[in-house]
Amino acid sequence: MAELTQKQLLDIVNTKHIAPGNPRLRQISERIVTDLFKTIDELDITPDEFWAATDWLNRLAQGGQVGLITAGLGFDRLLDIRMDEADEKAGRAAGTPRAIEGPLFVAGAPTAQVETRLDEGEPKGEIFVMEGQVLDTDGKPVANAMMDVWHANEVGGYSHFFPGMKPYELRRRIETDAQGNYRFRSYLPPGYAIPPNSPTSELFAALGRHGNRPAHIHFLVVAPGQRTLTTQVNIPGDTYIDDDFAFATRDGLIVKIEKDVAPAGYESLGITAPFTRARFDFVMQKALNEDEASPAARMARVTA
Ligand SMILES: [Fe+2]
Repeated sequence: MAELTQKQLLDIVNTKHIAPGNPRLRQISERIVTDLFKTIDELDITPDEFWAATDWLNRLAQGGQVGLITAGLGFDRLLDIRMDEADEKAGRAAGTPRAIEGPLFVAGAPTAQVETRLDEGEPKGEIFVMEGQVLDTDGKPVANAMMDVWHANEVGGYSHFFPGMKPYELRRRIETDAQGNYRFRSYLPPGYAIPPNSPTSELFAALGRHGNRPAHIHFLVVAPGQRTLTTQVNIPGDTYIDDDFAFATRDGLIVKIEKDVAPAGYESLGITAPFTRARFDFVMQKALNEDEASPAARMARVTA
């Protein structure tokens, strides 16, 4: 039988195999292929439209921008919502809300005890200190938690991705003390936008959407026996705080900014004049198993 209807072709594509393969992957593939066949037929997708899409996917992958599209089309937030729903159903204490990791985490940042500077000694914005404790859901300090913190520079660039920045600039790993304390000095980052003239910006222009993210700082907090927390905090007052390209703003993650804080007690961070501060405690869920306490970042979990 060489002549096929659409339905016959779909059935063959979805059932053909010479070995069991991976049943879960076969199930997912079958669903996606079926939905795409249906989309092509019902929307009368032309061959030119189809091949333009494949060209775009190739360029997207070559440019390393798949992680931008997943965030911009809501998939990263969707996964967080689903985890929140599972927690709620299981009656688990929520702790600090989780938020998307984004595609720009880099492992191996220099580690400091309790406090550090992120800005290589060169403030390129409003001098900012963030400090607080890492706690568990009973309110007890989490000693020796490891906190990765990373944010964009004054023009929205991340080290290791944006040319001209030092390795691990604006990226550090902080180990909390016995009381779960942490603090760091940096400068307030601005918001940023998806790269112009890129596959991502092409799609968003075609969708009539902007590609702006409000000012934010990323965190990955890991501690033995605690569920790994991936989150980010927002700096209040940003134009896009409620209109994030990546849908990552959450009520519990907007820090309160204190201006003109007296410098006493902050000398070790090189602060000698009034500065801007935010206090924020991170609350970690108890891990139910080793997997939940895995120190790996979200993408690293599947690429190791
Ligand atoms: Fe970011």
